[in-house]
Amino acid sequence: MAEKGEFGPLTRSRRRATISSSSSSSKIELLKSSNGAPSASASKTRLKRQDSHSKDPAEETRKHSRSESLSCHKLQESMLSSASSFKNYRGILNWCVVMLVLSNARLVLENLLRYGILVDPIQVVSLFLKDPYSWPAACLIIVSNVFILAALYTERKLAMGYFSERFGLLVHIINLSVVLCFPVVIVLMVPSVTPVGGAIALGVYTILFLKLYSYKDVNRWCRERMRVKARSLSRSLSCPSPPSTEGAVHVSYPGNLSLKDLFYFVFAPTLCYELNFPRSPSVRMSFLLRRLFEMLILTQLLVGLTQQWMVPIIQSSMKPLQEMDYSRMMERLLRLAVPNHLLWLIFFYSFFHSSMNFMAELLRFGDREFYRDWWNSETVTYFWQNWNIPVHKWCIRHFYKPLLRKGASKLVSQSAVFFASAFFHEYLVSVPLRMFRLWAFMGMMAQIPLAWFVGRFLRGNYGNAAVWLSLIIGQPIAVLMYVHDYYVIHHLEETADPGAL
Ligand SMILES: CC(C)(COP(=O)(O)OP(=O)(O)OC[C@H]1O[C@@H](n2cnc3c(N)ncnc32)[C@H](O)[C@@H]1OP(=O)(O)O)[C@@H](O)C(=O)NCCC(=O)NCCS
Repeated sequence: MAEKGEFGPLTRSRRRATISSSSSSSKIELLKSSNGAPSASASKTRLKRQDSHSKDPAEETRKHSRSESLSCHKLQESMLSSASSFKNYRGILNWCVVMLVLSNARLVLENLLRYGILVDPIQVVSLFLKDPYSWPAACLIIVSNVFILAALYTERKLAMGYFSERFGLLVHIINLSVVLCFPVVIVLMVPSVTPVGGAIALGVYTILFLKLYSYKDVNRWCRERMRVKARSLSRSLSCPSPPSTEGAVHVSYPGNLSLKDLFYFVFAPTLCYELNFPRSPSVRMSFLLRRLFEMLILTQLLVGLTQQWMVPIIQSSMKPLQEMDYSRMMERLLRLAVPNHLLWLIFFYSFFHSSMNFMAELLRFGDREFYRDWWNSETVTYFWQNWNIPVHKWCIRHFYKPLLRKGASKLVSQSAVFFASAFFHEYLVSVPLRMFRLWAFMGMMAQIPLAWFVGRFLRGNYGNAAVWLSLIIGQPIAVLMYVHDYYVIHHLEETADPGAL
């Protein structure tokens, strides 16, 4: 009752005012102290206030706890406000996943109701082979061994001094040119090569071209170092390599010029040759089997989703494309973007993670950096530096840095790399389809202005969104262009000339 006598009856409005003033003043001080030590003046004021209002600490504590139990507000920001510094959005991420699953479940149902089951394993075989007794793409791949042997032969002759550097370079240039041109001639001349078979064979030849180019360069660098050492009267005849790890066999130039060494490089998941690759201590069977399982499952998934999801959308896009019905074209493009992107992501995982790790594990190849965190790219440049590490490493080591060393500017060297990359993208698409349209070439060259635009105007999450958008929308545009042109050439010609059927 003493309390009542001291403060008088608490009316509703007075109670609210008392609570809010005491609460807010204490909270302000609390906020101050949370940012660091409370200021000296704040502490002094608090002490003075305590002195003037009450001399009995027990009574003061009682009063304080009573006012605390009555207060239910404090000075604070809303969680979604950026000033709240709240960062835990795990539930929102789960919500996104649930929404994604739900909307895709609807899409799956709609697709099944409209088209039925389109997955057909027999049709997949026909993508690789026109005639079961003729395997031209496989034969083409087997023939590629000739070029590997030619490169080894040339290097051995160069090491023994039978070939001069100039003549050796000429032989290498001829060999590498044939590696690029020979499969083109075969794919264009032999009608039984299917587009898929042709694309695989050309992919193998392109990889071989990049590997043999690297092999030639590294062996030349070794010879140059040997000559420099010989001139400085060094007695070592080996190409300097990093010191060997415990128990590992250390190879020195020209001891590396063997069939075993070259074929190890040909099958290793890298495009850059080295005399002594880092090796893992043993083959982990469980890791190997997991990667193999992923490869098998994801390949099936890729084929199934293409047949069931991509092909019907592409087929339904042909009419709007021919009639140049822009709104329908846009709608089809956006419809295609989702499955196309999903397939690209599955391809990325199955190729850069499952397949490359499988080969690396099998060969005890130690460097497993096949990709970096390209999904966090805030610039287009970062994406190209990180999504395909074997190609990026090759570009830097055998093309970009040599150009810079020859005095080319950074912009010219970068443009040259993108030009070469655009050429190979076009090469891998146009030749198997037997039509030259330059869509892939232009898509790759467009990366230069796009990189400039994103780097100049967009930052952080906006930059990241721009990179994702360019991937999600850019690819289906190219896919639609090629499929449309292929369809016009093959199907419209067939319908225009019924006698041809
Ligand atoms: C063009 C490209 C090679 C540029 O790469 P980048 O990393 O932006 O290039 P940078 O200018 O940052 O420099 C790269 C290297 O050159 C070096 N360098 C830069 N200027 C140099 C100079 N004047 N002299 C010598 N070296 C130089 C850097 O130090 C760096 O070396 P490091 O790798 O040892 O650190 C890259 O964007 C690329 O690979 N693009 C194509 C990718 C592609 O087509 N992939 C196809 C996938 S399907």
